[in-house]
Formats: sequence, structure tokens, C-alpha cells
Amino acid sequence: MLLLWSAAPGSAQTNRVTVADRNVIHPGEIWKDNRGEHVQAHGGGIIRVRGTYYWFGEERSQDLDRSRRYVSCYSSQDLVRWTFRNQVIKLADPEGFGPRWILERPKVFHNAKTGRFVMYMHIDGPLPGQTGGYNLARVGVAVSSKVDGDYRYLKSFRPLDHESRDIGQFIDDDGTPYLIFEDRPFGFRIATLSGDYLNVEKEVCLIPLHLEGGAIVHYNGLYYAIGSALTGWRPNPNKYATAKSLEGPWSEFQDIAPPETNTYGSQSTMMLKVTGKKATTVIFMGDIWKPQTQWDSRYLWMPLEIGDGKLRLPEPKPWTLDIKSGRAAILK
Ligand code: DGJ
Repeated sequence: MLLLWSAAPGSAQTNRVTVADRNVIHPGEIWKDNRGEHVQAHGGGIIRVRGTYYWFGEERSQDLDRSRRYVSCYSSQDLVRWTFRNQVIKLADPEGFGPRWILERPKVFHNAKTGRFVMYMHIDGPLPGQTGGYNLARVGVAVSSKVDGDYRYLKSFRPLDHESRDIGQFIDDDGTPYLIFEDRPFGFRIATLSGDYLNVEKEVCLIPLHLEGGAIVHYNGLYYAIGSALTGWRPNPNKYATAKSLEGPWSEFQDIAPPETNTYGSQSTMMLKVTGKKATTVIFMGDIWKPQTQWDSRYLWMPLEIGDGKLRLPEPKPWTLDIKSGRAAILK
């Protein structure tokens, strides 16, 4: 590793810094954006548009207007250094859901035909007469003509008339977009979107298991699905299964990490495939939730060991990603 000696401004002291530090992802630590602030993109999702990555997620800073719900957007060329772009959603209760309404896990799809960016989000809250809870079980849809523009809320609904709590997004290698949603009475559903992406069109598969934080990746001819058990904000052993086609049949679900670690304290939100000139890395993107201090919730991103029907989340350690080659290296 190349070492540099740099002088701290205004002091004669020298600090040892490594060139590689600039490209290091530190799972579980504060992740500072270009403003020096902790990235607020919890329960998030990432899309790549014209070579730039955009990370959308729940904005949970402390100083927000408590009657609104916020989604923030960040951009990056290398998935390590993130620039804050915009609070793309700063939404007051859009449909009279009541003060305890919930917006979680925003995911943005780019529709190349319409040119629009379409955001799906988990919309929830108590039913009339209730004081709290996740009982509306809907998805919301918002649109923008710019990836980091102000998204316009359109509507909410129950996809294919099913309950929908945690959502995940999956875009296959041929560009087909899928919504993954947790339908509590039945399980984990995978569905296609309509041509304009504004509706959930057709169910592809129902995996009859109760899984949240659903994520899918297509890697070397196999689909890998992961999800977590239903334990609220508390971490649990996340599991994976594989299938040759999204319709299934899916293999038995197995732990992605030693079960006693509870996924190293995290919960899945997405798997991101980075294909470079030399290698392909699949990143596990997880949230380390801090329910009492949500603004301080952290991210656990690690390159997965994946292939031949096996998937394993390595023990979290600092690691580097070279976006050009597609290579990840875990630092000892
Ligand atoms: C687990 C979900 O995965 C989170 O997104 C959030 O909805 C919590 N439950 C709420 O308890």
C-alpha cells in the first residue's frame, strides 16, 4: 500500500495517510458525503444512469419537519465517494393517512422509453381508528423527469391487490424491472411493472416464506434472492435461495452469514452487481438500524462471496472497490 505523509493545515505535525484510504468502504462507520455529513439514504436503492451511480434512501436527519417524509439522493462515480444531490421527496401526508404515516425503502427505476424516473416506496401507517402500526400495507409511486429532481407523488395502491410492506427492486440484465414485495399473509412476491412503470403488472413468483428486505441479483446464469426474517428493527439471520429462472423453483433458503451474528447486525436492502473490465463484484447493501436514533443508522456494505449456487457475506472489514476493473479487495 502506498503511504504518504501529509502536513495538517496550520500545524507542523505530520499525519500518516494512505492513498488507498480514499477508496475504502468502512462497514458500520459514519459514511460522510461531500458536505462532511453522514449519508442519509437508509433502506435504499441504487441505479446507474449514464455511468453515474445514484443512491436513494430514507432521509432521517434530526432537524427535519416531523410531519413530512423525506427521500435523499446522492451520486457517485466510484460507489465510495458520494455527493449529496437533493431531497427528492419532502412530502406532507399525501392522502390523509394521518400523522403516523410511513414512507420507507424508496427505489427508483429509469424508464428508457418515457425518459421518466419512477420511484416506488413503501407507504404505510395505521388504519382509521388505530394509533400506530403498519396496516395500510401499500406502495406509493412518484415521478420525475430528472434523476435527482423533485419527484411528484402520484398515488398509492396495493400491488395486484396484495398487502405490500418492505419493497425491493431488481433490474435484470436485459433491463426488465421487477418489484419485490412482502405480502404478509403469503410471502415474498416478485412482479413485473407495466410499460410506463406506473403499475405493478404481473406476478412472476410467490415464494411462500415471510421475508423482508428482499433483494435479487442475477449472477453467472443463476438468480440469488435474499431476505430477512420479520423482527422489526432488530437484525436476524438473513437467508438466500437460488433459481435458474425468477419463476422458480427456488432452492431451500440458507443463512448468508453465521446465524449467531444476525447478519453482523444488519438487514438486507439490495444487492448491487458491479461489472468491470476484469471482474464482477456483487455488493451486499445492508442497513444497521438504530431505531432510537435513526439519523445515526449505518450501512453494512460488503462484497459477497458468490457463485455456483452459494452466497456468503464475509465478516465486515474495510474494503476497496476499483470501479474500472470491478475488483474488490478486503483489507486485513
Ligand atoms: C423491518 C423493515 O425491514 C424496515 O424497513 C422497517 O419497516 C421495520 N421493519 C419497522 O419495524
